[in-house]
Amino acid sequence: EKGTYEHFMLKEIDEQPFVIRNIIQKYQDEDGDIKLEEDIRAAVNQSDRIYILAAGTSYHAGLVGKEMIEKIGQKPVEVHIASEFLYNQPLLSEKPLFIFISQSGETADSRGVLVNVKKQGHPSITITNVPGSTLSREADFTLHTYAGPEIAVASTKAYTAQMAVMSILAMDIARARGIESSFNAIQQLGLAANAMETLCDQKDIMEGIAKEYLSETRNCFFIGRALDYHVVLEGALKLKEISYIQAEGFAGGELKHGTIALIEEGTPVIAVTTQNHVNLNTRGNLQEVVARGANPCVIASETNHQEGDNIILPDLHEVMTPIVSVIPLQLISYYAAMHRGCDVDKPRNLAKSVTVE
Ligand code: M6R
Repeated sequence: EKGTYEHFMLKEIDEQPFVIRNIIQKYQDEDGDIKLEEDIRAAVNQSDRIYILAAGTSYHAGLVGKEMIEKIGQKPVEVHIASEFLYNQPLLSEKPLFIFISQSGETADSRGVLVNVKKQGHPSITITNVPGSTLSREADFTLHTYAGPEIAVASTKAYTAQMAVMSILAMDIARARGIESSFNAIQQLGLAANAMETLCDQKDIMEGIAKEYLSETRNCFFIGRALDYHVVLEGALKLKEISYIQAEGFAGGELKHGTIALIEEGTPVIAVTTQNHVNLNTRGNLQEVVARGANPCVIASETNHQEGDNIILPDLHEVMTPIVSVIPLQLISYYAAMHRGCDVDKPRNLAKSVTVE
């Protein structure tokens, strides 16, 4: 039930710190070690490459999952859009492992791929919020995201939960491979949950941004580099699906290769900058759009923040920042949709789970 909330989406955004803490509990044993089925561990470690398959927001979580597993676990990962892979399967490695990410566990495009790869004899794991769903039953293993029912069509808590579970998996892979690393997913998730809470308490700032930048606009661009790029793709999807503003996420360096032509006087450009090694590059890209009239809104980590930025995010390990940086993007989209009089929980033309191809 919505309780005192006007919309499920806002309730679900606010639930995210609890979801992350819940995941920490579920995936930790009494000694504080990671709790994972041995068979899952074996399947992951026997594979030579992981293929992540998903759609929409879950695909965006997969892009972040790749970075986590490659940077922490040093195992190669490819991420594919399920509907593309289904009819255009790329060349596979010798021992592939498939990970399906799906909030509902019912997405037909992903299921189509699962059916095919099972026929080919490849092992599979489904990361889902609904154990007992089709993708969960049909894959060899399930990793539960424990986010609780997600009612709003726009996915929020399921996305952050999917990334949280993958961070745990990434750390487990690193341990199994004997990789020396100071990365502790459990500790980082605790910090992320706290940071989420801080950001959820800043709703007036997010609402102000929505009003100032998005109440009249026809379009909105998002830019970021490295992991911030994956997050801005999600930010743009959120904004377009509930507010119907044409929104696109771009890799900061790519704008000048064409899209910058669309920047006009007052065009909102929302930049996310949490990755230290590319902060200055992103700042440079911002200057390029500002010089052409853009109205910039900057969401920066504490280390990278500069005077005049709109939102400051607490610092986290570079692969964990998406779990936190998406919160302002979700809230800004929410308020933009509200102010534009849109049906936030049930946007036009969309269904919560897409069970047709
Ligand atoms: O249930 P799934 O995670 O498989 O759903 C995938 C997409 O349909 C879903 O993420 C969709 O993009 C959401 N409406 C995004 O908010």
